Amino acid sequence: MTAETIFTASLLVWSDGIQRPMPWKGERDPYKIWLSEIILQQTRVEQGLPYYLRFLEHFPNVFVLAAATEDEVFKCWEGLGYYTRARNLHTTARFIAESCNGVFPSTYEDIRALKGVGDYTAAAIAAFAYDLPYAVLDGNVYRVLSRFFGIATPIDVPAGKKAFAALATRLLATPSPARYNQAIMDFGALQCTPKQPDCSTCPMLGHCVAQREGIQHQLPVKSKNLLKKDRIFIYAVMQNGSNIIVRQRENKDIWRRLYDFPMREWVSTNKVPATDPQALFRFLFDNEVPEGLALERVSKPYKQQLTHQSITTFFVEITAKNDAIMLNSGRFLAENSILAEQFKLKKIYALPRVVDKYWQEKNLSLSLF
Ligand code: ADE
Repeated sequence: MTAETIFTASLLVWSDGIQRPMPWKGERDPYKIWLSEIILQQTRVEQGLPYYLRFLEHFPNVFVLAAATEDEVFKCWEGLGYYTRARNLHTTARFIAESCNGVFPSTYEDIRALKGVGDYTAAAIAAFAYDLPYAVLDGNVYRVLSRFFGIATPIDVPAGKKAFAALATRLLATPSPARYNQAIMDFGALQCTPKQPDCSTCPMLGHCVAQREGIQHQLPVKSKNLLKKDRIFIYAVMQNGSNIIVRQRENKDIWRRLYDFPMREWVSTNKVPATDPQALFRFLFDNEVPEGLALERVSKPYKQQLTHQSITTFFVEITAKNDAIMLNSGRFLAENSILAEQFKLKKIYALPRVVDKYWQEKNLSLSLF
């Protein structure tokens, strides 16, 4: 047996012996597979699972999803992050319902052409729904393959990607691409994990180059490390009685179409005057705080990590004398500011995760008094 046949054979035997029940395992309905794969693109299985079930409950088939409003789809997605996925899901559902008579595409090329579907997701759907011979390739697979075969080619350069893709395709040459793809995903998640690979119980023990040479932690190799951009958002949380100002995010920035409060980004290289609430209050309004606004307090910093950005937010809590002053002040920061009822904030509007966390903690602390 060659190293490649040993790899595939032990992987499949291993997968028969594990317990990792997931509702989309063995599923053949391309709609459900597509939904699960979009959710799992940037989300861990444990976190994505309740969303998958909830989505199917709300939108049991492509026609129901196509007929939903964007706000309904976003509300169901709230908290999962990377909202472009929800937008693409909706657009694609409409495309399938209207232009394909509701029939999901069944070739790799047609699946790959769907909005929001990249190489990995197309391979997963093609294999799971139609048993087509396309191997999934992502960080998990790079890790498993680079370790087993002892490949030190960087995974983030074209030559590396090409070599891994060719290898992955050869390894998949089994009667069931669906079974192989699911097995390698599970293997990367349970056995050959990034930090603590469980080599002592691994079926590939003795065959795995990295384990034999003790270099598990040096593989896979990357040519460059991602530098995250630090951004600081200063929010104006303006309230008057039970009313509050919100706006819908637009343009090309993160969290497009989600709702948050009017804000300004702190772009100065100076440190944020986090211990000087008045300074933040003045910063929001360019040193000319409108009459009728009063500063209450500034929250602690709330942070959220995105793939390429690290976001820190401060919430400046302000009370306004009346709704008109509040709305004008909001529009000074964001032209599309609107007056909303506070109790509807969670019910109607999909909020970015940091904003939601802040809002929940603020209301929890208020209800204690
Ligand atoms: N990640 C992406 N797709 C997956 C799947 N089908 N099972 C487990 N993890 C996954």
